[in-house]
Amino acid sequence: MSPLRVTRTLPEDATDAALRADVLNGLTATPKTLPPKWFYDARGSELFEEITELPEYYPTRAEREILLARSGEIAVASGARTLVELGSGSSEKTRLLIDALTSLQVYVPVDVSESALTQAGQALIEERPALSVHALIADFTGRMSLPETPGPRLLAFLGGTIGNLLPAERARFLASVRSLLAPGDALLLGTDLVKDEDVLVRAYDDAAGVTAEFNKNVLAVVDRELGADFDLDAFAHVALWDDEHEWIEMRLRSLTDQTVKIPALDLAVEFADGEELCTEISAKFREEGVRGELAEAGFELTQWWTDEAGRFALSLSTAG
Ligand code: AVJ
Repeated sequence: MSPLRVTRTLPEDATDAALRADVLNGLTATPKTLPPKWFYDARGSELFEEITELPEYYPTRAEREILLARSGEIAVASGARTLVELGSGSSEKTRLLIDALTSLQVYVPVDVSESALTQAGQALIEERPALSVHALIADFTGRMSLPETPGPRLLAFLGGTIGNLLPAERARFLASVRSLLAPGDALLLGTDLVKDEDVLVRAYDDAAGVTAEFNKNVLAVVDRELGADFDLDAFAHVALWDDEHEWIEMRLRSLTDQTVKIPALDLAVEFADGEELCTEISAKFREEGVRGELAEAGFELTQWWTDEAGRFALSLSTAG
């Protein structure tokens, strides 16, 4: 029986304090913003799972297609004994990778959601008894440290989630990822690619309205956690392509002049009719841009794979 260890690097109350700070800062700023990490309570995670099955939302299927085709090559190139996965969630796609990594001894899933981590970890251990799982409850956008595990290490950050960071945040994040690794360790990074504007906008504004519900869920989170009185029907979902920055932006547009009370912060927030609150950016990439950002952080990109349709890329890089 191999162990499932869970290490918490986030204090129990850190999440609440971070939410308060983000809501206070974001809703008193001009323009108003809320960070996308607050989408993912139980309902938000469920809605995101639904999004991944929508006909318009191609990234999950495209990335799975690449993993299916390339896991063997990734295993040979990395020779990984430890796999670290950031933002592992339910770890479903990672199974393809884990099954291919024949030298793997330790899997380190890192997520802010404890329930997602322990469920996925338990299932894995039952199927692969020689594998140790050391789950880490941590916010990978902050300072992080990894347990002592056998090298070489492969650190995977899939799904295109790196696109949720602004360019300066990305640079800081990649540098901190590099500092977690030793020379010769590998980084596997999923990035969604620049493509036709209509395809991109539809992926974030689906016909069934699931993404709209996902977007508004952040208001439900603030209502529940901070006692706020956001009326979800008083906001409209907006998804637009920013051609200059090459990112999708999701916003919530106030449908009327309104004042929202947030008792836990002793705050009243005014929204003008038509005013927009930015809830997410999802940057789209090009090969040369990814290569350059990785080089800047001390990684050499050695492999670049896309799905057949060229919509999404997985890159494998070596820490220098
Ligand atoms: C989970 C961050 C990769 O940016 O495409 C899906 C989240 N937002 N639909 C993305 C998301 C709207 C997703 N990531």
